Amino acid sequence: MRSLSFLSMEYLFLLMSILSQCLKFGSGTAAVVHAGNGDGVQPLSKIAIHKAVYALHENASVKAHPLVLGTKAERDGSNEYSNYQPGSLNTTDQLIKDLKNIDIVFHIGDITYANGYISQWDQFTSQVERIASTVPYMIASGNHERDAPNSGSFYDGNDSGGECGVIAETMFYVPAENRAKFWYSTDYGMFHFCIADSEHDWREGSEQYKFIEKCLASADRRKQPWLIFVAHRVLGYSSSYWKDASFGEPMGRESLQGLWQKYKVDIAFFGHIHNYERTCPVYQGQCMHVGKSHYSGTVNGTIHVVVGGGGSHLSAFGPTQTSWSLYKDSDFGFVKLTAYNHSSLLFEYKKSSDGNVYDSFTISRDYRDVLACVHDGCEPTTLGS
Ligand SMILES: *[C@@H]1O[C@H](CO)[C@@H](O)[C@H](O)[C@H]1NC(C)=O
Ligand SMILES: *[C@@H]1O[C@H](CO)[C@@H](O)[C@H](O)[C@H]1NC(C)=O
Ligand SMILES: *[C@@H]1O[C@H](CO)[C@@H](O)[C@H](O)[C@H]1NC(C)=O
Ligand SMILES: *[C@@H]1O[C@H](CO)[C@@H](O)[C@H](O)[C@H]1NC(C)=O
Ligand SMILES: *[C@@H]1O[C@H](CO)[C@@H](O)[C@H](O)[C@H]1NC(C)=O
Repeated sequence: MRSLSFLSMEYLFLLMSILSQCLKFGSGTAAVVHAGNGDGVQPLSKIAIHKAVYALHENASVKAHPLVLGTKAERDGSNEYSNYQPGSLNTTDQLIKDLKNIDIVFHIGDITYANGYISQWDQFTSQVERIASTVPYMIASGNHERDAPNSGSFYDGNDSGGECGVIAETMFYVPAENRAKFWYSTDYGMFHFCIADSEHDWREGSEQYKFIEKCLASADRRKQPWLIFVAHRVLGYSSSYWKDASFGEPMGRESLQGLWQKYKVDIAFFGHIHNYERTCPVYQGQCMHVGKSHYSGTVNGTIHVVVGGGGSHLSAFGPTQTSWSLYKDSDFGFVKLTAYNHSSLLFEYKKSSDGNVYDSFTISRDYRDVLACVHDGCEPTTLGS
């Protein structure tokens, strides 16, 4: 017991020094804190990244498996204050049960809700060790990893409890150019993933916007037909943002929908809101395809998915019924993607309680469907003579 509390004291000190440095550097420079001596870097996350850069296989059948949010709890039953993440162990257990059918996991923000209590990162890495030591465990940055006043975060809340992203970027490796700016691209088989950082400015003209455009544009859709956009906060559509009727972060959609459309993003995943919701292929608030379970032909809209029910207490939906929302579930769950080949994709939403599929759809189409000219999704052409 004594040595345990001594250990947690040490962690507390480490945290306090990170916290004070973070605050000291002030605006825009939370990046600096990284000591670079490898402290706290888990060997298992290094394994993960090596697998994540697997070469493209022309014909490999590759599954990918994004899930999100707060999958931390205490296995010994002691449970954290207020049992804040009641679904997390079920989610973890379902993933472990299905691990042989999973190639890569995306946990898109609000990883531990440690909020400055650094020992909770250790509880979490131990909880997901079976998963993260077997397949790449890719993370995105959420408000509970990053946000702190005057630390360069786009939002000024205290949500990270002073972590300022330092612990997340140290514990988990991602192939970002500068890990303090948590945006990156990663390829896996027939997928190209563009992971945005909703805690830094994404608007047109920003550094991140340029990255997002470059990342989307760099997908070779002949080899990587499945183009996936990921961010923590909802930059697309969610029926849970009812207060201002914006259905997403202010300026999110306005800034980015042009890019999703131009580069024909298949699916955009978000967390932040603790439930599940799936839209039709949508552009500017309009459904571009009819039907709920199968889509084929030209890519003229992006399917938006909130997959925020990884573990933390659930969120309600607003009262407004929209035409673009096709499936809503306020329960714990996660999403699995399976690309059978270059023209066929399966999407499944599973509940964490039983691992069964409650919502699904398929996409089938050819390379020429991706190239096809659609509204606001064409390269400008000239009539050469
Ligand atoms: C890919 O195709 C080649 C040639 O048809 C075949 O030999 C190989 O086993 C296939 N690989 C996979 C992973 O299906
Ligand atoms: C963040 O925490 C500090 C210190 O407790 C407090 O002064 C400040 O008002 C908080 N800011 C926000 C936006 O909650
Ligand atoms: C979008 O593409 C699908 C498939 O080709 C087509 O059926 C649908 O009419 C298109 N939607 C619009 C609004 O053009
Ligand atoms: C792709 O996979 C689907 C589902 O397994 C199958 O029906 C289809 O024939 C395959 N297409 C090609 C071109 O192999
Ligand atoms: C976890 O799964 C069990 C078994 O299916 C279920 O009874 C329980 O309600 C689930 N817990 C939560 C919080 O969903």
